[in-house]
Amino acid sequence: MKDYIKIDEWKIIEEGFDPNHNKVSESIFSLGNGRMGQRANFEEAYSGETLQGNYVAGVYYNDKTRVGWWKNGYPEYFSKVINAANWIGIDVVIDGVQLDLAKCEISSFRRELNMQEGYLKRNFTAKNTAGKEVEVESIRFCSMVDDEAGAIKYTITPKNFSGSITATPFIDGDVVNQDANYDEKFWDEIGKESFTNGGLVHLKTKKTGFDVVTGMLYSITQNDSIVTASAESIEKEKYIGAKVVLQAQQGEAITVYKYAANLSSQNHPVEQLAAKLKETLDRVSKKGFDTMLSEQANAWAAKWKHNDIIIEGDASAQQGIRFNIFQLNQTYTGQDDRLNIGPKGFTGEKYGGVTYWDTEAYCVPFYLSTAEQQVTKNLLLYRYKQLPQAYENAAMLGFGNGAALYPMVSINGLECHNEWEITFEELHRNGAMAYAIYNYVRYTADESYLVDFGLEVLIGIARFWSQRVSWSEAKQQYVMLGITGPNEYENNVNNNWYTNTLACWCMQYTTEVIEKVKGLDEAKYKALIAKLNFNEQDETNKFIHIIENMYFPYDEKHRVFMQQDGYLDKEQILVKDLPASDRPLNQKWSWDRILRSCFIKQADVLQGIYFFEDQYDIETIRRNYDFYEPRTVHESSLSPCLHAIIAAKLGDEARAYEFYLRTARLDLDDYNNDTEDGCHITSMAGTWMTVVEGFAGMRVHDGKLSFRPFLPGKWQSFSFNIGFRGALLNIKVSKKGVLVKNLSDTEATILVDDKQSPVKANSEVYI
Ligand code: BGC
Repeated sequence: MKDYIKIDEWKIIEEGFDPNHNKVSESIFSLGNGRMGQRANFEEAYSGETLQGNYVAGVYYNDKTRVGWWKNGYPEYFSKVINAANWIGIDVVIDGVQLDLAKCEISSFRRELNMQEGYLKRNFTAKNTAGKEVEVESIRFCSMVDDEAGAIKYTITPKNFSGSITATPFIDGDVVNQDANYDEKFWDEIGKESFTNGGLVHLKTKKTGFDVVTGMLYSITQNDSIVTASAESIEKEKYIGAKVVLQAQQGEAITVYKYAANLSSQNHPVEQLAAKLKETLDRVSKKGFDTMLSEQANAWAAKWKHNDIIIEGDASAQQGIRFNIFQLNQTYTGQDDRLNIGPKGFTGEKYGGVTYWDTEAYCVPFYLSTAEQQVTKNLLLYRYKQLPQAYENAAMLGFGNGAALYPMVSINGLECHNEWEITFEELHRNGAMAYAIYNYVRYTADESYLVDFGLEVLIGIARFWSQRVSWSEAKQQYVMLGITGPNEYENNVNNNWYTNTLACWCMQYTTEVIEKVKGLDEAKYKALIAKLNFNEQDETNKFIHIIENMYFPYDEKHRVFMQQDGYLDKEQILVKDLPASDRPLNQKWSWDRILRSCFIKQADVLQGIYFFEDQYDIETIRRNYDFYEPRTVHESSLSPCLHAIIAAKLGDEARAYEFYLRTARLDLDDYNNDTEDGCHITSMAGTWMTVVEGFAGMRVHDGKLSFRPFLPGKWQSFSFNIGFRGALLNIKVSKKGVLVKNLSDTEATILVDDKQSPVKANSEVYI
């Protein structure tokens, strides 16, 4: 755990430079706009420890799988969103010595991420080995308005000398991924061009063939006047730069304005990329840095209007929750159904920037409540469009007849994960896809989604489960063998309760949706079953037979669902009795020891209880929570939030708050000592869920929002904005009660502690 980030309600601030924190800060201070993302690397050279990261959403490389022992069914490659051309670079040379903070004496350093307005600012004063001291301020952002563009204002002031300063703004595509499986470079150069005050580099990914043109336009002012000195063009492989030599006067500021853009063949015809890039650069540079920055602030103000959470009385919690919301909005804006949310977003290489079940299970609730309906719909369409690949994944594992298996890890729909216990066994991800459809329709009432897309996906998933279960003669019941549940600390188990439950629920929901769709649009239904060759009677009978005859492990003594067969054969030790020096287990214990232990990585039975809580009475929930939580080590960042929500439901407010603290500042305080790899973006949605579903107890019941709020002891109040079926509501929970403001023209009806209240358009009620 680190605590060097200063507390501020709207800003993330680092003061003083510690090279040991640099990679962590590069993650925390990352910028993004859904279309491109950028770690907080320095503009000028830095020879110390750094992880370079410039990402273009949706542009990936199929990195050939590397495993010790090949198993049939393994995917050939792991797709990863790769490091793209560096667009932020500005090389600075002072009287012949390159500015490099790793080689300077630094007398002041400050990084500030302004979450309210969406920009990163860095200030430092540094003296180089020749004793020349400069003061630098850089401000940059990835534009939310022009989402293929970014802008930088980089100001350098000589403090104790007059002399030559050379500034070379550049674009450098000669980049690597630190996690490349074979140390390959993933880009080929297609071309480059230098033009007046700028240039571009045209790169193409090997194998996947994405063309990306990255370019820049710059201007320089000295003491507020435009510098007209001509630049020397520098061209190297995958690189263009413009070297400008300036005579600097002590105390007089030199400012480089750099406008950059990344355009990819995903969004433009290849032959137009360069021309479109120039148009973009022209347009944004004509707006100018200040106008772009104020547009950025307005764009962020509009976002905050929909999704801010205000916590009174706890600045640290306030900073934490805003940081989570900010990063989620930087990662996914929902405008493009080909894009999704990597567990680390654009903040690092870990997890390859590709899509996990995290999106459906953890991120969907956040976007449902805080963004336009289309944003979540696009997340669902992403999976709908990958249905053909889901059939292929299922076929790879030997399933057929329209069985669909969504991948655990993927960007193009084909499974990429290459650990057998996950690729072949961690099948619950398939159910999360179905659950997200259910969640979306429950929240939005958009039943047309079921007709046009949802049912097709559900039939594929239900068919998969119906083929994956097997009939046990011994039990005279269906069983599911060889499974890894969400608890990855045990593999190849039989009858993982969560997976069995989810599988049956998927088949049940599919049968219900069949009836619904038939009623909504019989013609479309008929066309769909013809397309899928779906034999309604036989197949739904099979689903129902499985649902009615499924085996679910249960322990009579503890009266809890058993995580899987044989779980109680394990030595039952509680996490509180583990020596602190053994934690985290995944860093301290051998893998076999973890597998043999009873310790649970993340919510497993409790994941099912969270999804299907209405099916269980409160005492059942309590018994399972009391049994499993003390055995859970929460070594996935996805775990504490679900425990917080269930603890809140059970009235254990102290525990709920304790879990909240573990997630809200997970990255800001680097709790798990891994933020240098990137921030835990998907678990940030879990933090939001903790406040809204945990502390405010928000649920959707019978088409209405209901709340069962409590106020964490340390807080004076908390409030949040959510959208629901056309209404925009602000819910404020304070010691006095619950104030609900309807900020829209649409009337809403809500329930607070089971009491129904209409909230008229543009009015408020106090409960
Ligand atoms: C968790 C998975 C999760 C993945 C990406 C793993 O540690 O066990 O459930 O999908 O991280 O966040």
